[in-house]
Amino acid sequence: YEIYLNGMTGAVPRLPTDLTRLEELAEHRLGPGPVGYVAGSAGEGSTARANRAALDRRRIVPRMLRDVQERDLSVEVLGRALPAPLALAPVGTISIMHPDAESAVARAAAAHGVPYVLSSASSTPMEQVAEEMGDAERWFQLYWGKDREVTRSFLGRAKAAGFTVLVVTLDTPMMAWRPRDLDQAYLPFLHGVGTANYFTDPAFRAGLAQPVHEDPNAAVRHFLGLFGDASHTWPDLAFLREHWDGPIVLKGVLHPDDARLAADAGMDGVVVSNHGGRQVAGSVAAADALPGVAAAVGDRLTVLFDSGVRTGADVFKALALGARAVLLGRPYVYGLGLDGQAGVEHVIRCALAEFDLTLALSGHATPATVTADDLTETPI
Ligand code: FNR
Repeated sequence: YEIYLNGMTGAVPRLPTDLTRLEELAEHRLGPGPVGYVAGSAGEGSTARANRAALDRRRIVPRMLRDVQERDLSVEVLGRALPAPLALAPVGTISIMHPDAESAVARAAAAHGVPYVLSSASSTPMEQVAEEMGDAERWFQLYWGKDREVTRSFLGRAKAAGFTVLVVTLDTPMMAWRPRDLDQAYLPFLHGVGTANYFTDPAFRAGLAQPVHEDPNAAVRHFLGLFGDASHTWPDLAFLREHWDGPIVLKGVLHPDDARLAADAGMDGVVVSNHGGRQVAGSVAAADALPGVAAAVGDRLTVLFDSGVRTGADVFKALALGARAVLLGRPYVYGLGLDGQAGVEHVIRCALAEFDLTLALSGHATPATVTADDLTETPI
């Protein structure tokens, strides 16, 4: 009711409370280059559309008279107590959206106790992000590239900076066919942004003929040459296990057999994700892949979910389909672009409040009681 009560003094929210409206607003205010990069998807966009359709198609069947007056949104994920089943997804080079970039996101996430998964390709060094977050929960996303020294260095830096969970992204050994970027030849790394985790890294710098500031374009070329490695196979995960003693989560798993392989390889979790539709055009929708993965490994691994989450109802649906928690992607990036840290906080608060209300109005006092029985795809 806080928003309504503020309204009594004439104050209305600075940004829309329907998070699906942020993209259009961001495009209007920030221009097609940066927003095209964020909004863009692989190919003609069918995977991103399918992500939304798969969530929309499933409908909640609310239950009544179940005492939902007192609610507790907290969940345990990978041995950590989270205030709600929500984290911020890794998104690279976000200084194209706002100069405060990852620092603003880090402060917003920390203010709400929501874990922030920092991208390998962040435009702010991980040590600075860690400082902004204090004791707050932070996870590190790895682009598992060609240079083992860089990988080793990243893992060492992340550990030293207090990142607890390692999220290894498997679906991006190379960037996909993304027409919105290709048509404008828009590569964020080329627009004065850089990928600070790389450009500040001693192992990365050792591979450069000249210091970054003397030839930034050569540094970008070097980055593009090593950030992904398409030759990796399942046994290679042993290298990461050896160099990371905390939980490891594989991001971009869609097939139940891959989820089983992840469990067999000693991983701790998976993120069922198609990278927000940005990698394989024509891919299965992430929400359609989720029940199969949850059925295959739900008892062995922590199953997380992203791709297409825009509302509190989507969070609820993902839990009902078998996820323990969800990662939110584009909406917080638009929030950042539109209003810096306050914009990210707006998005977090809206998502949490809408989830809380959906939970209550559907007859649940905690996320733990949400099951597949709460959803239907057909009239009942
Ligand atoms: C991403 N994503 C991503 N994932 C990752 O593991 N490392 C990264 O650096 C990035 N970078 C990135 C940039 C941009 C602009 C976007 C939109 C996405 C994917 C991200 O973590 C997540 O999987 C999706 O964003 C989830 O889908 P929604 O919520 O955006 O639909």
